[in-house]
Amino acid sequence: MTKVSFIEVKMYSYYSILLVLCMTSYSLSASSTLDGTCVNPTTLSFIENSLTNISDQLKGSSNGVSESLSSVTSLFQLSFLKELIGSYKEKSSNSSNEEGLAILKRMELILNTSTADITSKLEDTNARLSAIEQQQQDIPSAISSLQSQVSSLSSDLNKLSRLLAKHVNVSLDDEEEAPSSPLLSSCDAILSKWPNSPSGYYNLADVNGHSRHVYCHMETLCGKGGGWRRIASLNMTDPNEKCPTQFRTYGVGACGRPVTNSGSCVGITFPSRDIKYSQVCGKVIGYQVGRTNGAAARHASKDINSAYIDGISLTHGNPRKHIWTLISGHTGTAASDCPCASHTPYPVPSFVGSHYYCEAGCHNTRASKTTLYSSDPLWDGNGCGSSETTCCQRTLIPWFYRSFGYSTTDNIEMRLCCDEGTSNEDVAMREYEIYIK
Ligand SMILES: *[C@@H]1O[C@H](CO)[C@@H](O)[C@H](O)[C@H]1NC(C)=O
Ligand SMILES: *[C@@H]1O[C@H](CO)[C@@H](O)[C@H](O)[C@H]1NC(C)=O
Ligand SMILES: *[C@@H]1O[C@H](CO)[C@@H](O)[C@H](O)[C@H]1NC(C)=O
Ligand SMILES: *[C@@H]1O[C@H](CO)[C@@H](O)[C@H](O)[C@H]1NC(C)=O
Ligand SMILES: *[C@@H]1O[C@H](CO)[C@@H](O)[C@H](O)[C@H]1NC(C)=O
Repeated sequence: MTKVSFIEVKMYSYYSILLVLCMTSYSLSASSTLDGTCVNPTTLSFIENSLTNISDQLKGSSNGVSESLSSVTSLFQLSFLKELIGSYKEKSSNSSNEEGLAILKRMELILNTSTADITSKLEDTNARLSAIEQQQQDIPSAISSLQSQVSSLSSDLNKLSRLLAKHVNVSLDDEEEAPSSPLLSSCDAILSKWPNSPSGYYNLADVNGHSRHVYCHMETLCGKGGGWRRIASLNMTDPNEKCPTQFRTYGVGACGRPVTNSGSCVGITFPSRDIKYSQVCGKVIGYQVGRTNGAAARHASKDINSAYIDGISLTHGNPRKHIWTLISGHTGTAASDCPCASHTPYPVPSFVGSHYYCEAGCHNTRASKTTLYSSDPLWDGNGCGSSETTCCQRTLIPWFYRSFGYSTTDNIEMRLCCDEGTSNEDVAMREYEIYIK
């Protein structure tokens, strides 16, 4: 603060000197000669004016800063006047103008006194300013000392209240053990901070800082540790569970496409709720219904938005980005229609890559149009037929796992697709669980 003021003072003084210089040189050139026979009256009146102004300034303000500001200005003006007078004295010294010399000497004396006065005022102000600065430096250290005293006092109080609580058998809410505000933004972060957190409901902060009540699965899944957020689950084995409204309910406890004469996809969206994730771990168990044809979806294109397989397509975002595909083959013992089958293999579209499971529920040589094959559920890794073994026996099965290598808040979409009508084929979902982190 003081430094800035001082720069301002210097600037102001500089202009002030220029002004004086300008006026003086005007005055000098206005006088015909500088021969010392007399002191130029215009110059003298200018000097008198300056002195009056300076003396006004000296008498003026009592405010430390503005006073020192005007004092510095005055000091510059005075110094300049002194030089001017000195020069006059020299020029006039050879002349016999005693009266002029006497005036100049008197002015010089006034100037000397004023200069001394201003200098002492300035010193005084500076002393006061540095005293203020010292106080300003002392304030933060005083505050921090107070803070540490308060903090040690509150920690003592805390210990004391715990001792008292123990004494009277009262339990206190322990802030250090319960996850509390500020909210963390993932189940994983909660588990990192409190490694013994059990699975259950927690509040998370979404990307906009809003609180979200979510289920966190804290035990290891997909071999990638705990801290997973569940975004979808269905368990049709539970008699109280109902199919999401867009699906048709099968009596065995499964959800399929509504009756249709043609190929169709029926989708359900699992909202991310604006919480970031980069990994997906999930499981879908279903049943083959009728003559599903695996990856041999003859009636549809191989476009990600169409029924590119008979089975289930998991994607995220819009446009759709592939996560995992669960394919219902034709039969496990003969024409499989699975991409990796030993009998009648059909390839998956390139966007699927190796991110799929394929299995059939039918173990006859040819599937029946109207049968729901409940004895061999799909994608559980069990009951793999001779022609589909490599598609059906996979490392994590029934779980599938993807890591994107980037984070997103995309919603996840699950579509149940078949390229022909329900009188020919369908896929029925018995259960699913989708976790993200
Ligand atoms: C003296 O002060 C007056 C009013 O503040 C100003 O107009 C005048 O220019 C000043 N004279 C000099 C020589 O500084
Ligand atoms: C005054 O006189 C001295 C010596 O007597 C001389 O050196 C000097 O130049 C003179 N000054 C003027 C302004 O005439
Ligand atoms: C004014 O001060 C100067 C030194 O700054 C000194 O040489 C001069 O004699 C002084 N004048 C009077 C009249 O005291
Ligand atoms: C606290 O509880 C214990 C047993 O739980 C009991 O023995 C003890 O007397 C209790 N203390 C007080 C102060 O009530
Ligand atoms: C599904 O519900 C049944 C019946 O309540 C239960 O026995 C089974 O463990 C549940 N399955 C899952 C994966 O939660």
